[in-house]
Amino acid sequence: MLNDILTIKKLAQEEIEKAEGLKEIQELKVKYLGKKGILTVKLKSLASIPQEDRREFGRILNETKVHIEELARKHEEILKALELNRILQTQRIDVTVPGCYMPTGHLHPTTQVLDEIISIFSSLGFSVAEGPEIELDYYNFEALNMPKDHPARDMQDTFYITDDVVLRTHTSPVQVRVMEKNTPPLRVIAPGKVYRCDADVTHIPMFHQLEGFMVDRHITMSDLKGVLEVFIHSVFGPDTGLRFRPSFFPFTEPSAEIDISCVICKGSGCSVCKNTGWLEILGAGMINPRVFEMAGYNPDEYTGFAFGMGIERVAMLKYGIDDIRLFYENDKRFLEQF
Ligand code: PHE
Repeated sequence: MLNDILTIKKLAQEEIEKAEGLKEIQELKVKYLGKKGILTVKLKSLASIPQEDRREFGRILNETKVHIEELARKHEEILKALELNRILQTQRIDVTVPGCYMPTGHLHPTTQVLDEIISIFSSLGFSVAEGPEIELDYYNFEALNMPKDHPARDMQDTFYITDDVVLRTHTSPVQVRVMEKNTPPLRVIAPGKVYRCDADVTHIPMFHQLEGFMVDRHITMSDLKGVLEVFIHSVFGPDTGLRFRPSFFPFTEPSAEIDISCVICKGSGCSVCKNTGWLEILGAGMINPRVFEMAGYNPDEYTGFAFGMGIERVAMLKYGIDDIRLFYENDKRFLEQF
């Protein structure tokens, strides 16, 4: 019996010392000390030996057991320390390495200019309305006094979806939609995307417009002039000149095109304004009585003005950008400037 115990002790000792991983130690613990482990079995076998030897062997066995437990624990600690060391060596963080720069995004220049324009008109009491980009021919043309085959439709190269459905070519249809659902007084702006089958340095197939209109009794062209003056002076500065040029839109009468004094040469003439000193910025006019009639308003009772501008155009004038396509090429060198 004593020899057996000593052999077990020696073997256990050797095996534990050779163990290279925590898993191995765990297995050795089970092998020697577990429920069916070698030492446990030996302890149980004490029952079959003579009474007088039992006490002594019991003591020796228990001491051996404690000894092996202690060995396993110590070796486990050593292995854990080695493992920690290994982790510290391989996963070392160098806090002196320069950080990596994460660029933050910002609003697109079109959105920035649009937000600025909206806040100017909000301060004048205008509320914001929206309409669908896929629009009925009726709202885009017919209700704006442009019957089918009307030559004025040629002014806007239209994407047709069906004979009766188009991608809206301007935000003016929102005028009609708002008037159909509301009674004057109205002070509304309608920003949004519009589409035209057109592409060059000043035209792209999708761009943004902002429509504005005011309807009440006794609205006159001087109200239009006052509102536009506040707007132009807020965006381009208080010294900016403003001029109304007679023009034609089927949905306004009289109609005007509004120019601002050239933002580059301040009116003295340069290549940007083609030596005229003026830059065209928006279209406007007094809402045509025909439009009121079709929206269900009495044109003898109400008058109103309307205007429409291209947001990218305003941004181009404001920042001196000469190619509208830059807005949507997503070249960061361009976008980062705003
Ligand atoms: N809808 C016109 C356009 O897109 C602009 C405009 C709006 C003109 C309102 C007059 C009144 O060209």
